[in-house]
Amino acid sequence: MAEGPMKTHGAGTLRGDDAGTEVMLAGWVNRRRDHGGVIFIDLRDSTGLVQVVLNPEDAPADEETLHGLRLEYCVSLTGTVRDRPEGTVNPDLPTGKVEVVASSLVVLSPSEPLPFQLDDRIDIDEALRLEYRYLDLRRATMSDNLVARSRAIAAMRRVMDEQGFLDVETPTLIASTPEGARDMLVPSRLRKGSFYALPQSPQLFKQLLMIAGVERYYQVARCYRDEDTRADRQLEFTQLDFEGSFWGQEEVLATLEQIASRVTATLRDFEPPLPFPRLTWHEAMSRYGTDKPDIRFGMEIKDLGAAFAASEFKAFSDVLEAGGTIRGINAGALGASRSKLDALVARAQELGAKGLVWLVVEDDGSLRSPVVKFLADAEQQSLKEGLEATAGDVLLIVADEQKTALEVLGRLRLDLGQPDDHDELAYLFVVDFPVFERNDDGDWVPLHHPFTAPVDVDQMRQDPGHALSKAYDLVVNGSELGSGSVRIHDPDVQAQVFDILGISTEDATERFGWFLEALRYGTPPHAGFAIGIDRFVAILQDTPNIREVIPFPKTQSGADPLTGSPSPVEEEQLRDLGIDIRDEVRAEWAAAETPGD
Ligand code: AMO
Ligand code: AMP
Repeated sequence: MAEGPMKTHGAGTLRGDDAGTEVMLAGWVNRRRDHGGVIFIDLRDSTGLVQVVLNPEDAPADEETLHGLRLEYCVSLTGTVRDRPEGTVNPDLPTGKVEVVASSLVVLSPSEPLPFQLDDRIDIDEALRLEYRYLDLRRATMSDNLVARSRAIAAMRRVMDEQGFLDVETPTLIASTPEGARDMLVPSRLRKGSFYALPQSPQLFKQLLMIAGVERYYQVARCYRDEDTRADRQLEFTQLDFEGSFWGQEEVLATLEQIASRVTATLRDFEPPLPFPRLTWHEAMSRYGTDKPDIRFGMEIKDLGAAFAASEFKAFSDVLEAGGTIRGINAGALGASRSKLDALVARAQELGAKGLVWLVVEDDGSLRSPVVKFLADAEQQSLKEGLEATAGDVLLIVADEQKTALEVLGRLRLDLGQPDDHDELAYLFVVDFPVFERNDDGDWVPLHHPFTAPVDVDQMRQDPGHALSKAYDLVVNGSELGSGSVRIHDPDVQAQVFDILGISTEDATERFGWFLEALRYGTPPHAGFAIGIDRFVAILQDTPNIREVIPFPKTQSGADPLTGSPSPVEEEQLRDLGIDIRDEVRAEWAAAETPGD
């Protein structure tokens, strides 16, 4: 075949104005109608699709070729654009006014029958989609997602570039750093028995760049975390990572507003109002029961402790006596049947509450509930006032330890709340996070990461549980898009944080001595942030799962059904690395059908 460009136009770009033009097109057979005479195909390429008329009388190819065309054959053709005959115009298709009458057609590559139909309207098993991802990505929604991702990243890069950030790459074979998740390890052949870690984020390298005198850094960075994959978590994911020196929280948040609004305008034709609202972490927790509230609707959590301070209802008084709390939400007019209310109780218990009290406000203002007989009139009155109750509303109350009560009501609020405008993007910043929280073993762990600056070092020493940090999150519609903080730039403060975390000086020196030392060479005050690009694009594309916006993601179990990773390697490769697979693992392999499963 002749060398040179195979097309003069994109299939999806042809319009009425092009009528009469001779075009060369190339792409895939997206649809075909062949009733033995004239054949119609929809030809699809990366720009969209157009109808092509193949009339055997014009002999664009021999009859065998024409009637042999099947879905997803890759073809090129020459033809003339013409207006579609009256009555055949398709207003739903951008190219719907025209069609191309082919004068010649060549099959570039035939296709096997497809393992599944490439039709956006059909639900296909995800494992099959991932096994044939290269076919799945031919579907319009998936190619739209790829385009959206590319445009989002381009918009981010433009903002960073305009604002003078330097794009710097950092290594992906690094030493293990403490960022909360389990590291992915890579064995070294040259130093057998030693391992690189893949970065959970470029955190320490971007801080080193600040010490190195780069005053504005950014990177579209791949990060790796060996944690359970979920709808919004993958083993590897991408961040827009940035950091700056001689600036602080306000400048970081202003930069984020620029990035978020530019990306939103690019993908959604919508300019979010600036500045983004802010909530402190404590407010977010007490009003929404989460550090990533969806503020598109109200249904805020209220403290009902005062209303029930003298209650004789044991479920409430016991909890208050034990230092717990009583919180409630007004779930609005749910039209709740008894079975639905019972289901809410079961849901609350499944979420960890001891129980859930529901009360329905009747038309006359009285309350209907199995427990109403235990509540004094004054209690009922202040409850209704506290929750701004009107006829028809369902009131839900949890009495429990503060953490449980807030968490459970926060989840119920999300189950029951309906944003008025589903398309709205409600951005907000959550600020003033605590420095530490206790993990399940009762040890202090950082809420963000251990390089985050505390607001007050002395207070942190005296009362770690109440100390605030200079950390902040960007949240939209109930999802955490990203996190960042002002960093510790004083090696003594850094050592104190490690100390509270139970990392001894020797231990810290051994593991991060190189970093603690770097802090001693004139470290500028610095602060930064990282946005999860996969999450951001998924939300803007209105898809609940980040796998939809990742070209080649892993399944829930961390596998890639297309390439078969992860997979066992040759014995020789293991020997070179000085690695032995333990006998019990080999026994598991022998028992499993597929090695490594
Ligand atoms: P953090 O750990 O909060 O902060 O991560 C920042 C953002 O990255 C995204 N993200 C993920 N996306 C997909 N899959 C995952 N497993 C995953 N884990 C995180 C989220 C999250 O908000 N170095 C710090 C940032 C800083 O302090 O500058 C960091 O990585 O959207
Ligand atoms: P009990 O006193 O355990 O029979 O519970 C009476 C009602 O109070 C039931 O509807 C329980 O679901 C509810 N209940 C019990 N404990 C709590 C609690 N801690 N918070 C809210 N409701 C509760």
